[in-house]
Amino acid sequence: MEGKTDLQICLGSSCFSRGNKKIVKIIDEYIKANNLAGKVYFHGGHCFSKCEKGPSLLANGKYYHNLSEDSVKEVLFELFKI
Ligand code: FES
Repeated sequence: MEGKTDLQICLGSSCFSRGNKKIVKIIDEYIKANNLAGKVYFHGGHCFSKCEKGPSLLANGKYYHNLSEDSVKEVLFELFKI
């Protein structure tokens, strides 16, 4: 999406079993809390072929792996500075 921060969470089965649902929830809440809905394209994607490193996120072309509830918050801060 033009002009928007592209956040793609892997929805593959391995990332699912590694807890991607928690990560989705945190990102959704962050988008709502910071009124970023118009600035972010948050969507799911197929397996990134990095299953052993899940949960995984692709943010503006950069991969983040082994996400935890804390590390995804750090990624969001790095991206949006809020
Ligand atoms: S299931 Fe997420 S990288 Fe494969």
